Amino acid sequence: MKENQSGQWYRAASTLEIEDDDVLGVVVGDRGEHEVALYKIQGKYYATADRCTHQTARLSDGLVIDDCIECPLHQGRFHVPTGRAKSAPVSIHLKTYPTKVEQGAVFV
Ligand code: FES
Repeated sequence: MKENQSGQWYRAASTLEIEDDDVLGVVVGDRGEHEVALYKIQGKYYATADRCTHQTARLSDGLVIDDCIECPLHQGRFHVPTGRAKSAPVSIHLKTYPTKVEQGAVFV
């Protein structure tokens, strides 16, 4: 299985912690240095940075709409699978992370 960019997988959540078509904010990393928004969309898991690129709202407080996340602060939208900025006021893409599921847990 392919590892993430840092070559290390982090356990992000139990698969039971996230509903379908929803988002969950998690903190991962050896020193808790990565704030990640974890999504389950149509049965697949995705992960992006949790901070909006417009200002610093938490996307995990936003709404999942189809395969996009809507920021709770100014309603900018990002395409979750690619991180692409989809609608104003966001214009800078989101960082995305690979995910995998093992033994009932989601790893990023
Ligand atoms: Fe997210 Fe403004 S902080 S759209």
